[in-house]
Amino acid sequence: MPLSKVTLKAPATSANVGPGFDVFGLALEYPTDKVTLTRGKNRGIKIKVSGLQAETISTLPDRNTAGVVAKYMMQEFSLKTGLAIRIEKGIWPSKGLGSSAASAAAVAYGLNHMFALKLTKEQLIRAAAKGEAASAGSEHADNVSATICGDFVVLRSYDPLEIVNFKAPTDMEVCVAFPHMMTPRHKTAKARSVVPKMVPIKKIVRNVGNAAGMVSGFALGDVDLIGKSMIDAIVEPARSSSIPGYHEVKENALQAGACGVTISGAGPAMLAVVNRKSGNAAQVAAAMKEGFKSAGFEATAFATKPGAGVCLLE
Ligand code: HSE
Repeated sequence: MPLSKVTLKAPATSANVGPGFDVFGLALEYPTDKVTLTRGKNRGIKIKVSGLQAETISTLPDRNTAGVVAKYMMQEFSLKTGLAIRIEKGIWPSKGLGSSAASAAAVAYGLNHMFALKLTKEQLIRAAAKGEAASAGSEHADNVSATICGDFVVLRSYDPLEIVNFKAPTDMEVCVAFPHMMTPRHKTAKARSVVPKMVPIKKIVRNVGNAAGMVSGFALGDVDLIGKSMIDAIVEPARSSSIPGYHEVKENALQAGACGVTISGAGPAMLAVVNRKSGNAAQVAAAMKEGFKSAGFEATAFATKPGAGVCLLE
């Protein structure tokens, strides 16, 4: 008998992590979304959203990543039920923190548990990525993979989907800062439209080197190597001009002791890595906030750690 209700906690994530466009994802301990799924007698999907900037999120099932995933799974796995989805946003939407992915992955994980579907992680990621297609126009799976698996994820292949999951070193801390600015509708789709179609081999060599360095850093538990490999020569230069204070934030974070700084996902949030042994994450977060301020923008900044994937709360 399927469960009548499940409640889940889904983490924010940072995609790309420098050189791994659409390939790397990192789950964060804070912030998180809370998602409750309740089975109903009447067929159909009903969505309620509360919490941070809830008014900016559609409750129409076809326009909400959680609704899209629920619809897909109900069809794909012949789940004959009505479903109420209650999303309590703890993750700021449209900042580059995997907000839509968190809700989407929570629904995939929650329905899997509710109906004892016994899906693999790859199947869950595929289902959750349907939501990304609805919100960003492409089925990139870097955010949802990190939301499902936790810590650091490498999407070694999209077809067939194959992921490699690494635990983050215990000394690794991360700082996030984002400016208080209006982000355009379909922000991620717009940010993807500036990604260069042709790339000089020199830049590819640089990115492959840094991507290999990043994975080595996680494999070896070397925070400094992770930080210094967080360099993207391809996508980030094309996106940086849309982030006010990008250069100031980066410079300030490095000056304050970060070992690497990059755009978080499609931005405008920025992500810095700090080695607890040599740096102070609270100071780095404050310096990043000042960076945005010097460009004329108030900002939200916080320090957190890599974190676990989506999990059941009740
Ligand atoms: N890899 C994606 C991008 C993440 O950078 O466009 C967006 O959430």
